[in-house]
Amino acid sequence: MSEVYPVPDAVASAALIDNARYLEMYEASVNDPEAFWGEHGKRLDWIKPYSKVKNTSYDPHNVDIKWFEDGTLNVAANCVDRHIATRGDQVAIIWEGDDPSEHLEITYKELGQHVNTMAGVLRNAGVKKGDRVTLYLPMIPEAAYAMLACARLGAVHSIVFGGFSPNSLAQRISGCDSKVVITADEGLRGGRKVPLKANVDKAVETAPVDAVVVVKRTGGDIAMQDGRDIWYHEAAANAPDFIEPEEMNAEDPLFILYTSGSTGQPKGVLHTTGGYLTYASMTHQYVFDYQDGDVYWCTADVGWVTGHSYIVYGPLANGATTLMFEGVPTYPSPSRFWDVVDKHKVSIFYTAPTAIRSLMGAGEEHVKKTSRSTLRILGSVGEPINPEAWNWYYNVVGEGRCPIVDTWWQTETGGILITPLPGATALKPGSATRPFFGVQPALVDAEGQILDGATEGNLVILNSWPGQMRTVYGDHERFVQTYFSTYKGMYFTGDGCRRDEDGYYWITGRVDDVINVSGHRMGTAEVESALVAHPKVSEAAVVGYPHDLKGQGIYVYVTLMEGEDPSDDLRKELVKWVRQEIGPIASPDLIQFAPGLPKTRSGKIMRRILRKIAEDSFDNLGDTSTLADPSVVTDLIDNRQNKS
Ligand code: WTA
Repeated sequence: MSEVYPVPDAVASAALIDNARYLEMYEASVNDPEAFWGEHGKRLDWIKPYSKVKNTSYDPHNVDIKWFEDGTLNVAANCVDRHIATRGDQVAIIWEGDDPSEHLEITYKELGQHVNTMAGVLRNAGVKKGDRVTLYLPMIPEAAYAMLACARLGAVHSIVFGGFSPNSLAQRISGCDSKVVITADEGLRGGRKVPLKANVDKAVETAPVDAVVVVKRTGGDIAMQDGRDIWYHEAAANAPDFIEPEEMNAEDPLFILYTSGSTGQPKGVLHTTGGYLTYASMTHQYVFDYQDGDVYWCTADVGWVTGHSYIVYGPLANGATTLMFEGVPTYPSPSRFWDVVDKHKVSIFYTAPTAIRSLMGAGEEHVKKTSRSTLRILGSVGEPINPEAWNWYYNVVGEGRCPIVDTWWQTETGGILITPLPGATALKPGSATRPFFGVQPALVDAEGQILDGATEGNLVILNSWPGQMRTVYGDHERFVQTYFSTYKGMYFTGDGCRRDEDGYYWITGRVDDVINVSGHRMGTAEVESALVAHPKVSEAAVVGYPHDLKGQGIYVYVTLMEGEDPSDDLRKELVKWVRQEIGPIASPDLIQFAPGLPKTRSGKIMRRILRKIAEDSFDNLGDTSTLADPSVVTDLIDNRQNKS
């Protein structure tokens, strides 16, 4: 039996939603989604109100998802303009620089000016409704301005995390045929410079664009190409003061975000306008119990979905004060997070288990020397949080005062699907607990039979919610194949999950070939295709293995070309190669040279065996009799790499 932390009475009575209210609203949301979402869609300002609410089909012959389909609105108007009259002087964004001496407070009024200026610069650069714009930016306020400026113009942004290589950036620029890239001269993280513009220069050699807009961040030395590259501060001086927000249909695209799947290259997850914003805003309010006066901080990067929904769109739609942090948790010291909490009086704090684990390793003295008295809610996202990290977060960081919302969701889901609500849900360390309003999770066996009661299975969702992705950009068939064909009529999440006797959900991790390294999602197939592109590599297989800090580490099996010899130097060369091909986040942790990989007689690599070896569970290899050459397994076991 796991520990249970009941909701303290004081928390329940001060919160927006208590348990009785949760149960009532949840029931209403699944009994009559049309009525429920028809009501909650009104949290947004619509130019033309919708008359239709839900029109969704999970039938694999006709997957089609539409919410509020005849309504029109503009996302930037909802996140900025509508707040100016009521809270123009309230701080919208607190920006905390990498260096603790730098910070900014941007009010809603100022945010409005910046977004209009950025929109004007983009319009002058030729950006129109429907065009794609790639953002490759550090965590500076201009990243939020650029997202909202695209939304204002009806252009579709695609953000590429600054840790991706020029090669990965190029794929993502050409993948959605972006017209313009917005970047900075350099990024700054943990005191180190990130050569963003130089990376863009390389990327656009193979993925040409009409214009590159460059924000000056460090003032570092970069090349500017005449006729293509535009300094943002210069262009801003000539931009109009006001750009009319474009009237968008609820189902017009808002953004594309590339994410890794179990096969092939990353796919462009497409989110649209009305449903996405309704869902991001509603989850932000209720999951974090956001109330006026709160200072809310999500430590994610805008390059990931968490940054989209819970730094920018959800909070700003709610007129919240959202903190944006440029740096890293350990710079200049492992107290940084808590120093920032004290400095800006943060009351709601949302981070990833990998950050918690690394700070836990640095020692609690770094926490204890700070006050943290303003904190009231803590959140976790991105991977399962192990009970040890949960307890440390709860007791040391939160001093036993602050509920932890362990939020399960995905790039595809647009917003949080399974989570406690602070005033409603008794907590169990390591469990994401119960579904949010409108979400109907189920567990199925390998044949797709729905399992009842306390059990374990594959996690599916039975009915659509407004924040759901609509398609894979440019490849609807891949969307259908990936999510709706494994179990007919259901959305398949790719996650395994257990449900306990109280109906609580416990995510057990991916059941496909996606791995989760320090909260960064990665496809093993991508790392493999980078490796086999190296001239000395003949074959490669990549699996995840349990890693104390990262959650999962990257374990690589490599077969070399005839005549090539394994060596530590070659290991280093391969690590460097993968960093160049994909980016530092894909650096292999362990590389094992293997003369042969376990394959079936039809030549398929048996990853199950490779996973077990990487996990050190040798007694558990399962049936190896179908292998073409069972002796390779002995060699793999004898030469497995050490994880200390
Ligand atoms: C994992 C991040 C356990 C899960 C928002 C999912 C989690 C993948 C949790 C999506 C959690 C996310 N507990 N696992 N609270 N949150 N995951 O698309 O495997 O980057 O499928 O979205 O992260 O990762 P993505």
